[in-house]
Amino acid sequence: MSSLTETTLKLFSVLPPAERFHVRARALSAPLEAVAWRVPRGAVVAEVGCGHGLLSAMIATEDRSRTVYAVDPDPRKVKWAEEAAGGLPNVHFEVATVERLVAQRPGGFDAAVVSDVLYLLPREQWPEFLRSVRALLHLGGRFLLKEAEGNRSWKHYKCLAQEWVMVKLLGRTKAGGGLVLEPQDTVVALLQEAGFKLREVVELDKGYTTPHILYVAEAA
Ligand SMILES: C[S@@+](CC[C@H](N)C(=O)[O-])C[C@H]1O[C@@H](n2cnc3c(N)ncnc32)[C@H](O)[C@@H]1O
Repeated sequence: MSSLTETTLKLFSVLPPAERFHVRARALSAPLEAVAWRVPRGAVVAEVGCGHGLLSAMIATEDRSRTVYAVDPDPRKVKWAEEAAGGLPNVHFEVATVERLVAQRPGGFDAAVVSDVLYLLPREQWPEFLRSVRALLHLGGRFLLKEAEGNRSWKHYKCLAQEWVMVKLLGRTKAGGGLVLEPQDTVVALLQEAGFKLREVVELDKGYTTPHILYVAEAA
């Protein structure tokens, strides 16, 4: 585990054991540092669907000149995020949706991060959700979309089974009715339709049992 992850995880030691375990498991099972490193330095950042706030805390810790506005519709998650990382001077957590953030600061962000959220939304809501994320950014603003790739591999099916347990059986993750993984080509097309120019696609599944993939795009 690298020092950024270790340092950030220390913040979460104040949480109850089940939440601490969840956050540590998240840190070990997803390449969150690879996302954090790609956020421009000094940026005003929106993280939509921040969960317990681990990634937001990493982004804020890795570069103290970034300011992160992190939202999630689940009040339980935001409470834990606030307890753990709310003391960082450059992170602000709020129970909110992307639409609310757009209404507060349209075009007001240099970067937007969405990590493992899209798959929880019903598929028909993806285009509108991506258009709302686009509306957060000024022209040229960076969008980092971390998802699991729907590539029909064993990792794809393992990921769906695992998420089914988290969402439907344990109720640990709030979903809007989705649980869909789409292939790379489909996501790239949706990004373009929503007003993004694709810069890079980074396959991040090496060493993980989930087909992690990161889309790096720019508001066009
Ligand atoms: C798997 S967690 C990811 C948390 C964090 N982004 C990370 O990468 O560690 C998914 C989060 O998406 C949130 N979520 C579900 N539906 C959402 C929506 N429509 N808009 C924003 N967030 C949503 C859930 O409440 C949950 O906290």
